[in-house]
Amino acid sequence: MSDIASLGDLRGKRVLVRSDLNVPLEQSGGTTTITDDGRIRASVPTIRQLADAGARVIVLAHLGRPKGAPDPAYTLEPVARRLGELLGKDVAFATDTVGESASETVAGLQDGDVAVLENVRFNEGETAKEDEIRSAFASQLAQLGDAFVSDGFGVVHRKQASVYDIALRLPAAMGDLVSTEVDVLRRLTEEPQRPYVVVLGGSKVSDKLGVIDNLLQKADKLLIGGGMVFTFLAAQGYEVGKSLLEEDQVETCRAYLEQAKERGVELLLPTDVVVDTVFPSGDREPQPSVVPASEIPADAIGLDIGPDSAAAFADALSDARTVFWNGPMGVFETEEFAAGTRAVAEALTQVDGLSVVGGGDSAAAVRTLGIDEDAFGHISTGGGASLEYLEGKELPGIAVLERNIHG
Ligand code: 3PG
Repeated sequence: MSDIASLGDLRGKRVLVRSDLNVPLEQSGGTTTITDDGRIRASVPTIRQLADAGARVIVLAHLGRPKGAPDPAYTLEPVARRLGELLGKDVAFATDTVGESASETVAGLQDGDVAVLENVRFNEGETAKEDEIRSAFASQLAQLGDAFVSDGFGVVHRKQASVYDIALRLPAAMGDLVSTEVDVLRRLTEEPQRPYVVVLGGSKVSDKLGVIDNLLQKADKLLIGGGMVFTFLAAQGYEVGKSLLEEDQVETCRAYLEQAKERGVELLLPTDVVVDTVFPSGDREPQPSVVPASEIPADAIGLDIGPDSAAAFADALSDARTVFWNGPMGVFETEEFAAGTRAVAEALTQVDGLSVVGGGDSAAAVRTLGIDEDAFGHISTGGGASLEYLEGKELPGIAVLERNIHG
C-alpha cells in the first residue's frame, strides 16, 4: 500500500490531507472550549511531515454531524486555531469547503504552509448515500490538490467524499497515523498473545453486536461494564431499576451468555453497581450508593460498576498478554462515577503485553482522568473505526487505498 514517500517530491505540491479532527467541544457564554484535543495532537505529525517536505498542506476534516449545510455550532475554526498552536505556525482557515474562500486560501499558500478548510460536512455531498452526489463533491475537492493523504483513522469506516471518493481522483497515500493504527489492530486479530482479554463498556449493546459476535470467537475473557451491562443483567433475570435498558436486545444478550459458556470464554459482568436516583447533571450533588447487581432498587440508575467488580476486573486483567478496551465503565465525567473506568484504565497500564485503548470515549477517559498516555501500548483515535475493524468489516477508506489505481 502506498505511503507518503510514494508520492515523490512534494515541494510545491498541494497536498490534501484528510485528518480526523472531530474533538469534543463545550460551548458556554459565547466561548468554545476543546475539552480533549487528543485527535488534533495525533494529526500533527503527518501534517508537519508534509509541511516539512515543502508541500502546501490543505487539511480536510469534519466536526460533529451537521446536516449537510453550514452550521456555526460545528465550525472548524477553533480547531484550526488549536492546530496552529500545536504546530507552532500560522494555519490559514477557509470559511467554506469548495467555494471562493477555499480557492483563495489555497492559492495563497506558500511551500510548507498549512490551511484548514471549513467542516466538509457543511456540504451535503460529503455524506450523501448517492454515489453521484458524493463524487461531484469529491471532484470539486480534488481540484484543490495535486495529491491526497488519508490520515483520519477515525473516519476510514465511512464511505464519504473526503475519505473514499477523493482517493479515486488523485494520487493517494496512507498517512502514518492510519498505518500505525492498522498495524496495531492487525496484531489484535492475527494470533494475539494469550490470555487475550477484551473490556467493553459504553452505553449501548446494540452498537457492539458485531464486535461481541466476533470477539466471542477470539478472546479468552470478555469483561462488560458501562450502560450496556444492564441489558446483560436483565438477560440474567435481574431487575435494573431505571438504568439504561435495551429491551429488544435482552434475548441477544442471553444468547451471548450461552455462547460464551459453550466456547469457554469467561464472560464477566459486575456483581455490584454504583447507583443514584438521578442522572448526574450539575443540578444537585451526586448521591452515589453501592448495591449488588442483583438488587438494583426500582428508583435507581446504575452509573458505574461497583468497587468489588472494579477489583475483579483488574484481577482478570492482571495476567493478560493482549487487551482491547472500548467504552467507559460508567459516567466517568462525574468523579463519583469514575472509579470503575479508572480501575480498568489503571489495570491496562500494568499489562505485560499489548494494551490497546479503542478510541472514542475510552481514549477521552484516559486523558480526562489524567492517566499517563504513554503507559498504554496504543491509544486509538478511532472508536467506531477500530470496532468495525475488529468486527472484520472492510473499511472503505482503507480498501480504496489498497485498490488505488494511482498507487
Ligand atoms: C468519530 O468521532 O468516531 C469519528 O470522527 C467519526 O465520526 P462520525 O461517527 O460522525 O462519522
